[in-house]
Amino acid sequence: MSRTAPADFELADIIAERWSPRAYADKPVEKEKILSVLEAARWAASSYGAQPWSYIIATKDDPVEYEKLLSVLVPFNQGWANSAPVLLLSIALTVTADGKPNPLALHDVGAASTTLALQATALGLQAHQMAGIEPEKAKELYDLPEGAVAVSAIALGYVGDPSGLPDFLKERELAPRVRKSLPEFVFTGKFGEPSGLVK
Ligand SMILES: Cc1cc2nc3c(=O)[nH]c(=O)nc-3n(C[C@H](O)[C@H](O)[C@H](O)COP(=O)(O)O)c2cc1C
Repeated sequence: MSRTAPADFELADIIAERWSPRAYADKPVEKEKILSVLEAARWAASSYGAQPWSYIIATKDDPVEYEKLLSVLVPFNQGWANSAPVLLLSIALTVTADGKPNPLALHDVGAASTTLALQATALGLQAHQMAGIEPEKAKELYDLPEGAVAVSAIALGYVGDPSGLPDFLKERELAPRVRKSLPEFVFTGKFGEPSGLVK
C-alpha cells in the first residue's frame, strides 16, 4: 500500500513515500535492513555533533524483550503497534558528558529518528513514531541513567493489510493526507506574515 504525499512542489521519493502505518505485515525485517536504518540515525546531524540519542530495540524474535518494549507504549498504541515486527525506543541524552544541559537534545533525537524513518522508506519499510509512551516506566524498566529521557517509540516493518484494523483506525489509514500550506508556516519580516516566496 502506497500513500504518496500529494505535494505542491517537488519532493525526493523517500519523502513523498514515507508515511506512518498502523498495520504491519507478519514478516520479519532482515537484519541488514535493521542495521541500515540504525546506521541512518547514526549519520543524522546534531548540535555540536553531540549525537545525543540512544535507541533500545526489540524484535518479535525475542518475545520477552519485545513485550517489555511494547509495555512502555500507552494502551492505544499497543493496540496497533503489536503488529510491527520491530519496536524501538528513542532516548535523549539531555546532559552532556561534562555535565552541562543540552537544550537541543530533543530536537536532535527527532532529527535522528526522522533520518531513520526515511532510510526505512528507502528500503521498502515504514516507521511510525509514537509520543504515546510512559517515560517513567521506560526509565525504570531500562535503568536509564540521570539525564536520559525516553522520547518516542517507533514501530518498524513492512506495511500490512489495514482490513484487520478496527474501523476508526482503518478510516485514518485510508484518509487523504493533508498538511498546512507553505504560507501558513513560512514567514518573512514578521511572524505570521507569509513570505513573498511562497504566496
Ligand atoms: C514525534 C511523533 C509522535 C507521534 N506519536 C504518535 C502516537 O503516539 N500514536 C500514533 O498513532 N501516531 C503518532 N504519530 C504519528 C503522527 O500522527 C503522524 O506522523 C502524522 O499524522 C502524519 O502522518 P504521516 O506520518 O503518515 O505523514 C507521531 C508522530 C511523530 C513524529
